[in-house]
Amino acid sequence: MSTSTGRVTSKKKALPFTLALAVAAIASVAVMGPLAPSANAQAPAAKEDGGALWGKGGCANCHGNFAAGDGDAAYPQGPNLRQSKLTRDQLVETISCGRPGTAMPYNLAGAYTQTACYSLPVGPPPGEVTRGAGFSADQIQVLADFLAQNVLGKPNITRENCALFNNGNANAPACRNF
Ligand code: HEC
Repeated sequence: MSTSTGRVTSKKKALPFTLALAVAAIASVAVMGPLAPSANAQAPAAKEDGGALWGKGGCANCHGNFAAGDGDAAYPQGPNLRQSKLTRDQLVETISCGRPGTAMPYNLAGAYTQTACYSLPVGPPPGEVTRGAGFSADQIQVLADFLAQNVLGKPNITRENCALFNNGNANAPACRNF
């Protein structure tokens, strides 16, 4: 079987599949619309706060409360993420998959075993990478957005920036010194 035959086949399949997705999306919007208020009422956690995920994920232990590389002395020290030059995609991959051979854990539930990391085949994680928070893919996206918008390239921790790590409360005790 030649490569070109394979490509033609997959192109022919792609259009109907896309159409099916579009139809499904429209149908689900139509069905979900009236249900939205009660669905929201039952799922208040749907809109996550990146600053809260930072704390919840244990990131502060190693990277510091404000990601400035001043973690708890009891933990391995993580770098100052305010100086990080990673792209958003690299943030997602690093947070999801960790850094094998370092203290940076993987935080995506099912990383390696269900979702491939660093082009490795899906399977048990390499022995030398530890397990972190167990976040969903959506939570990782929220956290990556939060870091990209409020941490990377933001060397100064202002009171407003501090508030983002404290449920938006600029008067939190942790923010008094900024
Ligand atoms: C047990 C300590 C530890 C925890 C917990 C931890 N990290 Fe890390 N992190 C590290 C270390 C150490 C590195 C540096 C790895 C290396 O040498 O490449 C790192 C690297 C990173 C990097 C790459 C920075 C760069 O510029 O290359 C990002 C992004 C990051 N961590 C985000 C997070 C987030 C988000 C969390 C929480 C979900 C988290 N880390 C939890 C220790 C930790």
